[in-house]
Amino acid sequence: MAEVDTGIAGAPAEHALVDLIPHRYHPDVRGLLAAALGVSADTVVQQALDAYIDAPARRLLGFLDGRRPLGLIGLDFVADEAAIVLHLAVTPEERRTGLGRNLVRSVARHYRLKQLGAAGDGTSAAFFRALGFCVQSVGETLPGLERFECIWRSCRVEHGRTR
Ligand SMILES: CC(C)(COP(=O)(O)OP(=O)(O)OC[C@H]1O[C@@H](n2cnc3c(N)ncnc32)[C@H](O)[C@@H]1OP(=O)(O)O)[C@@H](O)C(=O)NCCC(=O)NCCS
Repeated sequence: MAEVDTGIAGAPAEHALVDLIPHRYHPDVRGLLAAALGVSADTVVQQALDAYIDAPARRLLGFLDGRRPLGLIGLDFVADEAAIVLHLAVTPEERRTGLGRNLVRSVARHYRLKQLGAAGDGTSAAFFRALGFCVQSVGETLPGLERFECIWRSCRVEHGRTR
């Protein structure tokens, strides 16, 4: 039966999704994780990496150009076909070229996700809104720092019917 995905799961990605854990000692992987965390302290980055290794429901994935990491997405699979984006970053020189969008599309397609959640600041919210996520403010978690919850749900179409 022909099946068409709508939304972020609908378009092909240009890069192959790879497991970044084997590449975790590459300085650019650590740099991307630091950018996603918004910190530069190596101990914090290491803790985040350790959590991906220790937690079976977590995956640290990304795109490589040869051996050079271009972007990273970290997921926590919270239910069947449902995940939360824990970390997301694209190398600075590749930003605004569609890589972030392709990372999200790739994981949605690869894992046949029906739901994907994320949280972040105003910039993250603008990014996820552009990808079709529903974005809602959860207020200021620190003075002057507004946070947003972002959620996307699949709307697969079969023979013209949504399900
Ligand atoms: C957020 C981030 C991952 C986006 O990746 P990216 O590859 O630059 O994003 P894309 O090129 O796929 O952008 C897709 C759309 O999202 C929106 N968008 C992306 N970055 C944006 C920004 N900084 N401000 C507002 N909207 C933005 C735009 O609508 C964009 O489409 P356009 O370029 O055609 O206008 C990247 O900026 C990044 O690594 N930031 C630092 C780490 C970070 O803040 N991580 C937390 C993200 S949850």
